[in-house]
Amino acid sequence: MKKLSWFLAFFFMAISFFFIELRLQPAQLPGHSARIEKKIDELLVRMTLEEKIGQMVQYSYRDTEDLKCLIAEGKVGSLLNVRGCEKANTLQKLAVEKSRLGIPLILGNDVIHGYRTVFPIPLGEASTWDPELIEKACRVAAREARSAGTHWTFGPVVDIARDPRWGRIAEGAGEDPFLGSTMAKARVLGFQGESLSNPSSLVACPKHYVGYGGAEGGRDYNTVEMSLNTLYEIYLPPFEAAIKAGASTLMSAFNELNGLPSSANFFTLTRILRQEWGFRGFVVSDWNAIGELIQHGFAATPSEAGIKALQAGVDMDMEGNVYHNQLSQLIREGKVSEKVIDESVRRILRIKFLLGLFEQPYSDPKLERQVTLSKENRSIALDVARKSIVLLKNENNLLPLSKELKALAIIGPLAESKIDPLGTWACAGRPEDVVTVLEGIVSKVPTTTKILYEKGCDVSGQDIEGFEEAINAASGAEVVIAVLGESAIMSGEASSRASLDLPSKQEDMLKALSQTKKPIILVLMNGRPLSISWAAENVSAILETWHLGVECGNAVADVLFGDYNPGGKLPVTFPRTVGQVPIYYNHKNTGRPPAQIKYTSKYLDIPSTPLYPFGYGLSYTNFDYSSLKISSEKIGTFGSLFISVDIRNSGSRLGEEVVELYIRDLVSSITRPVKELAGFKRLSLAPGETKTVIFTLGPEHLGFWNEHLEYVVEPGIFKVWVGPNSVEGLEGSFEVVE
Ligand code: BGC
Repeated sequence: MKKLSWFLAFFFMAISFFFIELRLQPAQLPGHSARIEKKIDELLVRMTLEEKIGQMVQYSYRDTEDLKCLIAEGKVGSLLNVRGCEKANTLQKLAVEKSRLGIPLILGNDVIHGYRTVFPIPLGEASTWDPELIEKACRVAAREARSAGTHWTFGPVVDIARDPRWGRIAEGAGEDPFLGSTMAKARVLGFQGESLSNPSSLVACPKHYVGYGGAEGGRDYNTVEMSLNTLYEIYLPPFEAAIKAGASTLMSAFNELNGLPSSANFFTLTRILRQEWGFRGFVVSDWNAIGELIQHGFAATPSEAGIKALQAGVDMDMEGNVYHNQLSQLIREGKVSEKVIDESVRRILRIKFLLGLFEQPYSDPKLERQVTLSKENRSIALDVARKSIVLLKNENNLLPLSKELKALAIIGPLAESKIDPLGTWACAGRPEDVVTVLEGIVSKVPTTTKILYEKGCDVSGQDIEGFEEAINAASGAEVVIAVLGESAIMSGEASSRASLDLPSKQEDMLKALSQTKKPIILVLMNGRPLSISWAAENVSAILETWHLGVECGNAVADVLFGDYNPGGKLPVTFPRTVGQVPIYYNHKNTGRPPAQIKYTSKYLDIPSTPLYPFGYGLSYTNFDYSSLKISSEKIGTFGSLFISVDIRNSGSRLGEEVVELYIRDLVSSITRPVKELAGFKRLSLAPGETKTVIFTLGPEHLGFWNEHLEYVVEPGIFKVWVGPNSVEGLEGSFEVVE
């Protein structure tokens, strides 16, 4: 048996060498061929300058004659926010049948976590630590969206976010580049499928390139300053992973990075993206990001903004009107060469050809009816929602609840909400599709269980009149379920918060409820980590449910009553208070790490540790880790090794555990983080069952960018931990030698 597992380990190692090789290949566009380039050549020679510029222009859909005329004249290459097959086909018809060359439109939408079947917000999806499942969820989204006339999603959001004040943390995979890259790849593969011409595929568009999540003070759109090492090590990897997975477009961001606005940054858009990574798709700006170069103080006029964005590598102008209004004049004046325009148009046409839009520009309404919000899609959404839930506290095993309770109090403004579980960027999602937490619980318990529901207070607002009824309901129940948190509009774009506390009067209500001495389960619904130190001390159980999408209530009820054993883990650190922010697990050690003596890096008033660490989450069963093995004590700088560990379910319920591998490079030419995630695996274990997990560690995990921005693996000792989160685990070490 042992021999077999070592054999398997070597086998996996050999395969992973192959993948390391692949990782180093330039990005390819799936389905691309010389035949397509020939067709583009033929088309380009027939196009007027106005028609070429038209391909580089994208507008948001509005029902105006003006827009229809522009499409018919071939002056618009793309629209966003067109939803539904019928509308899409009508507009497409104008482009295909009325414009001189009949070049089809590419229609984009923000399909961020589902189209009509809304899945958990991406931060929730990342809590599954299950890339295969997320790929599947993105396939569902793609199938629905493409059948409804959308060809292109402005996703995945692959911004790393270390500051939960930033509302857009909800849209990405959290704070870690390894988890972020794994999720980025899964989402691209899910959206794009095997071939873009497949009628169930969407073009992916990783965004917002780059550094957008590093906004100072967590304030959206704010300035970003970071070292190039941090850029390469933390913020770029998920983009690189997305591009290497075949993402065929990319969105340039609003923010400036070290003084250069991202939508006019030649270094990131051309040197890194095209020259280092070999990207062959096209770049679209974020909404009016080219126009905003003027507000940044980077361009004096729209024409200067146009030149700078184009020369940096932005091919399509989203809603900015800069390319539409400025480019032809700039070419006539000789300030921009038509060759640059031709290259951008070529990139855009390439994607239209790959999508098969020239052969089949229209969508099929029958297919749209068939796939939209189908039973099968909902059941995948339920699976993802359940797996996204993170159990943060479970004192005395209060959970799961018995279904035989006589009276249950459900309190809180989010229990009955149909709109908030949809979260930010719900695309074509509808409140009427949502199963609320209250509905989920009501359908789970027998009719003999008395449900006492009281809203108590609003999510925001100062009214506390409802407290009394809430307390009465709690007093009459055996258990209290408090459903509290943030409404959907409190996270996402332009939704930064300076406080991370439960908004408004919700914590006061929780305190009032606790006076009843009834056991309280806090069901959190939110788009970012919250500072819930009081609740963590004082309530009996806490479930982090994020904004779970259409199957919210069913997923929460399944977990509350034990029909599903939660196994999600946090993709982001929970601070004790906003004053600790930014706080993330992969920080540096400093010269004076926190200790019980004065002159160390800590706060006087609170511990420097988080409330809940990255990677944390409990289960209704227990998992024991043992037998950590490292295949070699020493490896060369190009070498690999594998690490194995046994995990045993020592409890009495079937459960899922995310096994996490962390490393630390102890001494190096540029200081390294105290821990770095280098592998993970979510597995299911029956009671009493043991499984062995084998991880491979190679140069792609052990290296970093040195002071010359070269990727190197340096000799020295590495520590290794395998465990259930970023602070616990079995420890070992090995050495990298010259
Ligand atoms: C957002 C993008 C989004 C675009 C189109 C912008 O405001 O920053 O993420 O894709 O709008 O909706």
